[in-house]
Order: sequence, then C-alpha cells, then structure tokens
Amino acid sequence: MHTKVQFCDPKKISSDIIEKAAQLLKSGVLVAFPTETVYGLGANALDPDAVAKIFMVKGRPADNPLIVHISDLTQLKEIVEEIPPLTKLLAEKFWPGPLTILLKKKASIPPIVTAGLSTVAVRMPSHPIARALIQAADLPIAAPSANTSGRPSPTSAAHVLDDLSGKIPLILDGGPSQVGLESTVIDVQRENPLILRPGGITLEQLKEIIPNIQIYSPEIMPALEDQPPSPGMKYTHYAPKAALFLYKGPIEEMSNQILMDIQQFLTENHRIGILQLIPHQYYEVMKKKFPFLEIKKLSLNSNLEEIAANLFSSLRSFDELGVEIIFSESINPIGVGLAIMNRLNKAARRIYDLSPPT
Ligand code: TXA
Ligand code: MG
Repeated sequence: MHTKVQFCDPKKISSDIIEKAAQLLKSGVLVAFPTETVYGLGANALDPDAVAKIFMVKGRPADNPLIVHISDLTQLKEIVEEIPPLTKLLAEKFWPGPLTILLKKKASIPPIVTAGLSTVAVRMPSHPIARALIQAADLPIAAPSANTSGRPSPTSAAHVLDDLSGKIPLILDGGPSQVGLESTVIDVQRENPLILRPGGITLEQLKEIIPNIQIYSPEIMPALEDQPPSPGMKYTHYAPKAALFLYKGPIEEMSNQILMDIQQFLTENHRIGILQLIPHQYYEVMKKKFPFLEIKKLSLNSNLEEIAANLFSSLRSFDELGVEIIFSESINPIGVGLAIMNRLNKAARRIYDLSPPT
C-alpha cells in the first residue's frame, strides 16, 4: 500500500482535503492526523473492523484500550452513559485540549475500543485539523498515537511515515505538534481521583478543580499493582532504539557523572548522545575532543513547554544518527516537568540517582 503524505495548512484548512480524509474514515479506513499533543492514528470508533486495523498496524496489545476523540459535546452524549457535573466542569475548563477523561461507556462503543473495559477514555483535541476532520466525518474517532507500539510517539508527519509507511493510505501533515507529549489521562469517577498518565494538562492545573487528585503510582498504591488502573501503564513505552541512561540529581553531579561515564564509550568509538535539559557549557570540552558526540539541547532556557515539544523528536533523531547510548539529564517533576520525567523514566534502560540523601 502506498502511503500518501498530504500537507494541510492548519491556518488555512482545505475543506477538500478534510472531506477526502473524512470519507476514508467513514469507509472504515485508517487516517493519521495531527493533534496538539502528538499525531494520532484514527479510525471510526463505532466500527470494530476499522478499529481492529489500528491494533494490527501498530502491533498494539489487544488489552490496551484506545482514546476516543470528539469535536463537540453532543458527540459525547452518544458514547457515554452519563456526563457527571465534574466532567462538565473539566470539559468547560480544559476542552478542547490535552485532557483525556474516563467515563462509563455506552453500548455504541464496541468492546475492542476499550479492551473490554466498562469505561471509555474521551478527549476533545484542540488542533484545528483534528477538529475539522472529526466534524467532517461526523463520527467519534478512536486514535492512539500514530507510532509503532513501544516507539516514541510521533510529533511530525515524517515520524508517522517512518513507522507506518506502506501500512496506511493517508497521513495528514499539519506540521509539528505543539505540546509534543500525550494528553493527561484522568479517572475522576473513583473515590480517590487519579491521574493515570501525566501529560499536557498539569497536576497543578487539575488541583484547582479537584484538590484531592493524586498521581497513580504502584509505590503509593501497591494494592493496584497487579492490575494497573490504566492497562497501557504496564507496557514499555517511548523507547528509542538506543539504550537510554537517565541521571537524576543536582546539575553539577549529573553532568560530572555523565562526562565520566561517556569517556570510555567515546574512546571505543561508540556513537553516544547526550540529552541536555538544562542550559550549561559542561559538555563543550568533550564535544571538542570527540566531534561525533551528539548533544541535543532541548531548551536554551529550561523552558518546560519547549523541552516537552522537543523530547520525542530528539529521541527519534538520535536513532537516525545511529546513536547507541543516550545519556539524559533530569529536571524537577513540576508542571509539565512531571510528564517529561514520566516519559524519560519509562524510556530509560538504567537510572542513576545522584540526589543527596534526604
Ligand atoms: O494525546 C493523546 O492522548 C494522543 C493523541 C493522539 O490524542 N493519544 C494517545 O493514545 O496517546 P495512546 O493510545 O497512545 O494512549 C492512550 C492511553 C493508554 O495508556 C491507555 O492504556 C489509556 O490511555 N486508556 C485508554 N482507555 C482507557 C480506559 N478505558 N481505562 C484506562 N486507561 C485507558
Ligand atoms: Mg501511545
């Protein structure tokens, strides 16, 4: 199958392009499209055969449910049993945007979408192309990130093509995703409201509306450990082909240790990459000595939004450069920093914690 990459200007959307893509979705075919978080791989959420293609194309485990995307609240009524007052409040405040809410599903949503669960994860994306496409298709659209399972999520059409070329007919190219990390997934129907996956909407923002919301972690909730409340959490994620070694602690300690640890690999001519999250000059000496050392500076002023937007594309470009080991710094898990550290922790092969004992 030939995969067509169709450029579509988000500022001047061609209704012709959107109409054609919507027709494909209606006929049970997959279409990859941009959202503000990452690119999605869309299918008609009401058509189990179309949804089955998503699992096949991504190589996604059947027990990992999908997010259903809507463009307005009337669509929500058609897929969930009830819209609790708290959901209305959250929708008013954060939709359209990078927040995914678990709700009790209606029978209209086939079990394959939710991996047999009674809840469906719903999100209203803000990207103009995503919104136009869902509206034109006039369907709820099931869409995971448009990557091969386990790989970093795609933040450009080129990333989608790298993973899915020959497997889907159409990728809508709307330029790079602005947020760069996936949506925040929350379950607020339970007694203790939980963030199941940190993302574009922060813990701090959610606490303004749900003061007692907590981040799910197997450490603080060991009773749930065998059965994670979000099936996706048990899978390795976001992993580049290179092994990623993650360093935590004060910047001087992290950079010193990284400089010590890369020395031997560089001398042995291994391709080494450094993921620099904090601005400083500590690696420049080594770069002079070993020009093939790849350093990716994710932000020149530690701007968290910028780090998030550049993270996945940097991991993918290390792969393209043939980097074998990535040495990564850490940042404080505050604001969007929480989602950034969540993805780095999941991508990491090894973690070195150099924080002083408390
Ligand atoms: O930003 C995003 O959320 C992107 C864009 C395309 O919208 N989508 C995305 O989908 O990241 P995916 O499939 O890569 O991640 C969905 C996550 C998985 O961790 C999955 O386990 C969880 O949401 N999830 C989906 N439905 C669920 C449910 N009913 N209960 C618990 N977790 C659920
Ligand atoms: Mg994904």
